[in-house]
Amino acid sequence: MELLIEKDSAAVAVRAADIITEFIPEQPTLGLATGSTPVETYRELIQRYESGEISFAGCRAFLLDEYVGLPHEHVQSYYQTIRRDFTRAIDIADEDVHSPNGAADDLARAAADYEAAIEEAGGVDVQILGIGTNGHIGFNEPGSSLSSLTRKKALHPQTVQDNARFFAEGEEVPRQAITQGLGTIMRARRILLLATGAKKAPAVAALAEGPVSAFCPASVLQWHRYATIIVDEAAAGELKNIEYYRFAAANR
Ligand code: PGA
Repeated sequence: MELLIEKDSAAVAVRAADIITEFIPEQPTLGLATGSTPVETYRELIQRYESGEISFAGCRAFLLDEYVGLPHEHVQSYYQTIRRDFTRAIDIADEDVHSPNGAADDLARAAADYEAAIEEAGGVDVQILGIGTNGHIGFNEPGSSLSSLTRKKALHPQTVQDNARFFAEGEEVPRQAITQGLGTIMRARRILLLATGAKKAPAVAALAEGPVSAFCPASVLQWHRYATIIVDEAAAGELKNIEYYRFAAANR
């Protein structure tokens, strides 16, 4: 596991975009996360696209998750969110931006189909991840099987509360999602997990330095062959081995 500590969220975004840019000539399959953390990285990538530095033509994308019960048209569906935040502004073909169907009648079937679609596409080359304050990645809440595949999950009440800010007052916040499993995420060839702000510091410390445990689902990344964790100073605030991470980054 590689831990890169940057000054602030803007520097995290540049660093993440630099790594993604390296993949671009291979027309990679991108694993995309929604949530607020990766938005700055997406903006950085959009700028690079607009300046002619990179093109996403020929790339494919798979989202991590989708709320259950929200149709594609819903403004807070992740289908819409990723288009608004990123893919509509670049030259990836819209039909190549995939997400689980949270509005399906048969959710188990929709989840299995999504898992199969990722596999048929040859898997994810570079997966972008955020992390929840409780250590979740995707919507794999604490207690998730470390080898889980795409499936329906109930959100943690804290996650429902964290996400309420995106929904209109009085509107019901979804309590379930279809999410790639931890086993699905672990198959990605390269993983970039981004975390910014002091609120994420305990989760980052548990991910990198705690035991591998379903209690902190992100800790499964300790088993990944090539996971890069990019954090700002605030999110690095509870790391014990920080001197080594800085030394290793300076001596890569
Ligand atoms: P955030 O969410 O990027 O909005 O903080 C991350 C997550 O909950 O996975």
